Amino acid sequence: MLIDTYGRVATDLRVSLTDRCNLRCTYCMPEEGLQWLAKPDLLTDDEIVRLIGIAVTDLGVKEVRFTGGEPLLRPGLVGIVERCAALEPRPRMSLTTNGIGLRRTATALKAAGLDRVNVSLDTLRPEVFKTLTRRDRHKDVLEGLQAARDAGLTPVKVNTVLMPGLNDDEAPDLLAWAVENDYELRFIEQMPLDAQHGWKRDGMITAGDILESLRTRFTLDPEPDEARGSAPAERWIVDGGPHRVGVIASVTRPFCRACDRTRLTADGQVRTCLFAREETDLRAALRSDAPDEEVARIWRLAMWGKKAGSGLDDPSFLQPERPMSAIGG
Ligand code: GTP
Ligand code: 5AD
Ligand code: SF4
Repeated sequence: MLIDTYGRVATDLRVSLTDRCNLRCTYCMPEEGLQWLAKPDLLTDDEIVRLIGIAVTDLGVKEVRFTGGEPLLRPGLVGIVERCAALEPRPRMSLTTNGIGLRRTATALKAAGLDRVNVSLDTLRPEVFKTLTRRDRHKDVLEGLQAARDAGLTPVKVNTVLMPGLNDDEAPDLLAWAVENDYELRFIEQMPLDAQHGWKRDGMITAGDILESLRTRFTLDPEPDEARGSAPAERWIVDGGPHRVGVIASVTRPFCRACDRTRLTADGQVRTCLFAREETDLRAALRSDAPDEEVARIWRLAMWGKKAGSGLDDPSFLQPERPMSAIGG
């Protein structure tokens, strides 16, 4: 079991498969991209499957989410999913993606054992998409979303970050579109995890702003607290149901007390939190031939040191050195 000193148990593992991405979202990374991890530093497919196996078999992990950068850029993804589906007990598996590669891969991912996908989409307007992501791929994302739904990677969730002056007027339109297409939309407050360190609390769109904007067109009733569990998203029932809309308010309504997450970076470091400044090297243990029990022991010890929360409200808060794209969301 991965338990910390606050009694929280991590049963949800987020695995970053690559720090690379084929978009350049302005709230994430600069136009020129970043200094990518070198190939020899990345965990191999075998190392990833071994670590997930240890997490599932020895450490009580029940859910595995593959993230990036953009995880569909990892050539071995389908094989990794297939091998994880054969683990005992079999973990639930999901993927967080920008959606571009889904048209091509959704069916194979489903067949390999992936349960569902979350797709990032911030706007319904192709021109705004181009400005926000610096790439002209809006159509690919919409087609990827449809492919995921058609392949049964459901419920398909859509993640949206609203940026002032760019897409902050689109919340009601996005919700109408999501309801019509049977996607579960969630708005994410912008977090200080961008590589450019450009985040400003004053400038961000808050959960309060988002709800106010949605209520100009929809009635929203809160879901009961029990339905939330450890999920980052608070959900509202839209116009009496059955559709829901979520808000992930990491900044203004933090949910660290219920956190059930442990994270693995593409170069094999355990992170106890998105905002952690410390990492624990599992790759070194793997590459020095440590047995499974030793790797599990190191992982347990790392999680024991998990902090109470993100520390975002501390005056001394410092952004982690790794940007979001290299942590894995
Ligand atoms: P499901 O609700 O199970 O589908 O997944 P999810 O919302 O946890 O996953 P997803 O990868 O779609 O993440 C959506 C947003 O939630 C991203 O911006 C993540 O960075 C954020 N998020 C995920 N886990 C945490 C967390 O532990 N803490 C904080 N503050 N944000 C998180
Ligand atoms: N703040 C909030 N969300 C972010 N994402 C990427 N960078 C940030 C940030 N700085 C979102 C992506 C994706 C999800 C994994 O996190 O848009 O949907
Ligand atoms: Fe890529 Fe995701 Fe960062 Fe956008 S937010 S640039 S899709 S890693």
